[in-house]
Amino acid sequence: MKNQFPRAKRCQRIAPFHVMSLVRQAAELAEQGMDVIHLGIGEPDFPTPQEIVLAGQDALAAGRTRYTSALGLDELRQAIAQYYQQRLNVVVPWQHIALTPGGSGALQLALAALVGPGDGVLVTDPGYPCNRHFVELVSAEPQPLIRHHDKDWAITLKEVQAAWRSNTRGLILASPDNPTGSVLERQELAAIAQWVKSQSGFVIVDEIYQGLSVQAPWSALSIDDGIIVINSFSKYFGMTGWRLGWLVTPAHMIEDVERMAQNFFLAPATVSQHAALAAFTPQVQQELEMRQTELLERREYLMQELPSLGWHITGSPEGAFYLYVHIGKTVSDSFSFCEQLLAATGVALTPGIDFGQHHNAHEFVRIAYTVPLPRLREAVARIQHFLESK
Ligand SMILES: Cc1ncc(COP(=O)(O)O)c(C=O)c1O
Repeated sequence: MKNQFPRAKRCQRIAPFHVMSLVRQAAELAEQGMDVIHLGIGEPDFPTPQEIVLAGQDALAAGRTRYTSALGLDELRQAIAQYYQQRLNVVVPWQHIALTPGGSGALQLALAALVGPGDGVLVTDPGYPCNRHFVELVSAEPQPLIRHHDKDWAITLKEVQAAWRSNTRGLILASPDNPTGSVLERQELAAIAQWVKSQSGFVIVDEIYQGLSVQAPWSALSIDDGIIVINSFSKYFGMTGWRLGWLVTPAHMIEDVERMAQNFFLAPATVSQHAALAAFTPQVQQELEMRQTELLERREYLMQELPSLGWHITGSPEGAFYLYVHIGKTVSDSFSFCEQLLAATGVALTPGIDFGQHHNAHEFVRIAYTVPLPRLREAVARIQHFLESK
């Protein structure tokens, strides 16, 4: 007899990534010989820079395979602090930096240290879907901060105040943002941070797409060192699979985070930390900047071409590698549109329903410009052909 033990109620509340079902379908189509163009997953085509890979290999060869301390290697925490100072012109005490298993680990640690049952956390809609699930994981209540297409998805103090409830303890924002690519407005963030502080609340700013923006990057820490910042080696540094990120906390929070980190993870991956030490060398930084130039060329191309398909690029996509596109009411829902498009053309996009429920999500798709320009051109040509044939 099967053991039908009950499972936690959160299993029903944590939704799958719909794009993963499209990724599976894409893999089947590729197996059948179709030339698939992946614009769905948030992972650029660039490999991890060679110097970083070599540093990882050297660490393994030297037998550096034991646990580090829970907050990570001091040397790497210091290198990150130096990066903040040199690149972002902000002083961050290295002792306030915790290395984590990806930005995902940083979000989980921060929330575990901040909220619990009965507490509410504002999460943007559209926004990164895992945030509301991370809030669920610590038995708190995700509360939507609804953004509006006709207001360029802007997040304003007025909207934060309107969404704030008596049990709200804080909010999670991202800049640059997934899926809209928008960058927070400095003054607005300063006003939000100040007001939230007056409510004894917290602001988490997820900066994992930092460095991937049209304008020079800046950190929320330059506005207020009471802001909790999430970052990662995944995106700008090209290290998605190494699972290494970081969390910057105010002074009074780091000890709690350390205790959580000791218990939840013991330590971040040692080999990844040694590899990441090479991420800040001038050669690697130069290579990463060349990649960024290429991403901007891809962005420029799509910004020009997509409107000719009758697709409306929403908001002001100034960063990350995403465009959030309004495909209108021509389809019943963007998931079936993505399925049809994939089956007919081999082009994989992400349906809006992966990013929230409150913003007419079924009318949007996210395009990740994570393939070289010639492939992007090919994708646009196929989409055009598909739309004309409908
Ligand atoms: C906004 C945002 N935050 C966090 C993450 C988690 O990334 P990682 O755990 O690879 O650092 C992602 C991944 O796509 C993301 O888009």
